[in-house]
Amino acid sequence: MNRRFLFVLGSSRSEGNTELLAREAAEQLPADVEQRWIDLAEHPLPDFEDLRHDSDHVRPTDGSTALLLDATLAATDIVIASPLYWYSLSAHTKRYLDHWSGWLRTPGINFKATLAGRTLWGVTALAHEESEVADPLIGTLNHSAAYMGMRFGGVLLGNGSRPGDVLHDLDALARAKTFFAQEPPLARFPYEAS
Ligand SMILES: Cc1cc2nc3c(=O)[nH]c(=O)nc-3n(C[C@H](O)[C@H](O)[C@H](O)COP(=O)(O)O)c2cc1C
Repeated sequence: MNRRFLFVLGSSRSEGNTELLAREAAEQLPADVEQRWIDLAEHPLPDFEDLRHDSDHVRPTDGSTALLLDATLAATDIVIASPLYWYSLSAHTKRYLDHWSGWLRTPGINFKATLAGRTLWGVTALAHEESEVADPLIGTLNHSAAYMGMRFGGVLLGNGSRPGDVLHDLDALARAKTFFAQEPPLARFPYEAS
């Protein structure tokens, strides 16, 4: 099956450090790998409404929710490109993941079975020099992938505050060159044996 990468951009500004770093990594993807880029600021999702225990979620047919659901189902690889906001995911990105909870219970799409075995990746820019402050974001993505039965490719981290700063983070640019070349394992919760 040809790889199809979906890049979900979750910054509150366009062409910021996260997107720049994601584009550096994406440049290395082979030409036959499809790339789709969706900016959540341009395609805002409504606040997630938790209907799980009241009634069935209904498959969205138009608007940003349908666009993102269809793009997510079609992707072999989902790249969450979120800046580090308060040590975790941006609100745009978190809302996208919250919608997964609805899609898990939407009849007729087999959301979990479809995503199982596919790969979740992260790209994030942060202002802090010490990258371990991004551990909450990394944990969120790893555990989400484990819950979904997905592979987890890890998070490509880059440093920067103002847009463009990340292009001076030479270590991050070097990591970007090979980031998507890995073959990631199935994600595991920390309490599971690897
Ligand atoms: C709402 C908000 C919260 C932030 N929280 C953090 C943080 O917790 N840790 C950090 O290192 N940088 C934090 N930053 C800085 C951004 O991560 C940094 O500017 C990054 O380069 C932004 O990525 P972008 O250019 O892709 O938007 C925050 C910025 C904003 C606007």
